[in-house]
Amino acid sequence: MIDIHSHILPFMDDGAADVDAALAMAQDAHNDGITTVVATPHHANGVYMNPAPDIEAAVRLLNEKLQEAGNPLQVLPGQEIRIYGDLLDDLEKGQLLTLAGSRYILLEMPSSRVPRNMEEVCHELIIQGYVPVIAHPERNAEVAENPTKLERLTELGALGQLTAQSLAGTFGSKLQKVSLDLCRRGTIQVIASDAHDSSNRPFGLSEAYEVVKKQLGNETFDFFLHNSRRIVANEEIIRVNPVQSGSKLHRLFGFFSRKG
Ligand SMILES: [Fe+2]
Repeated sequence: MIDIHSHILPFMDDGAADVDAALAMAQDAHNDGITTVVATPHHANGVYMNPAPDIEAAVRLLNEKLQEAGNPLQVLPGQEIRIYGDLLDDLEKGQLLTLAGSRYILLEMPSSRVPRNMEEVCHELIIQGYVPVIAHPERNAEVAENPTKLERLTELGALGQLTAQSLAGTFGSKLQKVSLDLCRRGTIQVIASDAHDSSNRPFGLSEAYEVVKKQLGNETFDFFLHNSRRIVANEEIIRVNPVQSGSKLHRLFGFFSRKG
């Protein structure tokens, strides 16, 4: 499995506190069946600033430590970028990181609302050839209340990235319900851990994928799994979630049977 969103780099943000903590997280990731992790420290979220060169240096160092420790996990550079005023300018100046150097860029909204300029920012990024990946939309109060807010962004070409623990039910049944609903609406294209540590916010991807298989079916499981791989490989992802196309067909047949 490939994980496109994690806070595994030490000394960066509220993720791994030091090198030992990062190595322990890496061991958890390996044990969970993860082969590649994109490190995405918070950037410009009002608390943490993590410039691209610092992240790249920390990724190099962690990969060296992993080799020394005999852990085959591969760590790639990324950034979880809060929507902020100079985002587009800074991206143009080459100061921001996409996911593993791909066209996919991980964006974070505030938890309480969808920023007023969100559609504009996504639209501008898409025009420039980027694909915005919206981190954990299920944890945004406005999206949870009104999923069409996310639908508008995915219709523009953005992707929704669900957090594994939200789907697994670790954050409570309400958040799990919102997560499954967003999947069924076709607004989620990828799942990631957003791991911060080994205890409270671990990787747990395999557990989330079990829920996907059980609740949404094997086709959706494959869809999520392959999309993570395609993002890291900078390939075009598949946008239509099989569970969505299934439900559309279901609605269509429901319509005909009602007519009949
Ligand atoms: Fe995160």
